[in-house]
Amino acid sequence: MGDGSRSRFVRVEGFRIYVRTFGPVHPERTLLCVHGGPGGTHDYLLPLADLAHDGTQVVFYDALGCGRSDLPEDTRRFTFEHDHRVLDAVRRSLGASKIHLMGSSYGGMLALSYATGHSEELSSLISTGGLCDVPYTTREMRRLIGELPPRTRSTLRKYAARGEYQHPEYEAAMMVFYRRHVCRLWPWPEELWSTVLRTSRPVYGTMNGPNEFTIIGNIRDIDFTAKLRRISVPSLIVHGRYDEVTPNVGLRIHDQIPGSQFHVFERSSHVSFWEERREYRRLVTRFLTAAESAAR
Ligand code: ALA
Repeated sequence: MGDGSRSRFVRVEGFRIYVRTFGPVHPERTLLCVHGGPGGTHDYLLPLADLAHDGTQVVFYDALGCGRSDLPEDTRRFTFEHDHRVLDAVRRSLGASKIHLMGSSYGGMLALSYATGHSEELSSLISTGGLCDVPYTTREMRRLIGELPPRTRSTLRKYAARGEYQHPEYEAAMMVFYRRHVCRLWPWPEELWSTVLRTSRPVYGTMNGPNEFTIIGNIRDIDFTAKLRRISVPSLIVHGRYDEVTPNVGLRIHDQIPGSQFHVFERSSHVSFWEERREYRRLVTRFLTAAESAAR
């Protein structure tokens, strides 16, 4: 690829998973980045590739059924458990004894959950707009909807009651929420649009639901808050002040992970790595360096 990245596929249970790497080939420092959705693609995470300039090997992948990875016909494969197995297979394929793990949104949820059982394989953990308690996150999203203009709220209510989530008026009202709580830059970066437009409908529909704030798919009841205490690696919990996965969600995560750091980006919502790109890069670089020196 002209951008210096290298692509390959990892086989997991017969399916090909697309993996893309930036930066040095044999680094001490590897950061594996997990995208959200569930059903998205790695593209909207590409600002993390900035870290390759600081000597970090940065690895992205598209989850099963997403982006350039294979799309199985059987939607029963689209589960949180299966996504763990894919993450584990990609991590093993890197051949490093320890890696830094970063996840955004649902990817943060996966990374957090993975870390509860795999701390010994991780040097550190970063959750950006991540969650561990879907029912609480959904309640918080409802609170944010309550703060939208009354007309937007009634449009959302009207079409949701009829299940007409694709109605143009509903979608326009949904964009009011997205521009406040998903990404506050406008126009949105091309890579973010690319992820939104290429989101895997079978995966998103099965696991998440019709949109960001209507989580009625198979992840709807997941809550592993009580397991977070098991995480024993340096952890950084990042949220945007206006994040659809609210800072309150992040605070609960931070409270449970011993010694974790919590950071709120004041001018960001759900994708602070775009909205405050330079500051995000600075924070993460500092965090990774500190995590490595603490381990020495
Ligand atoms: N749907 C949210 C995301 O992963 C949780 O982006």
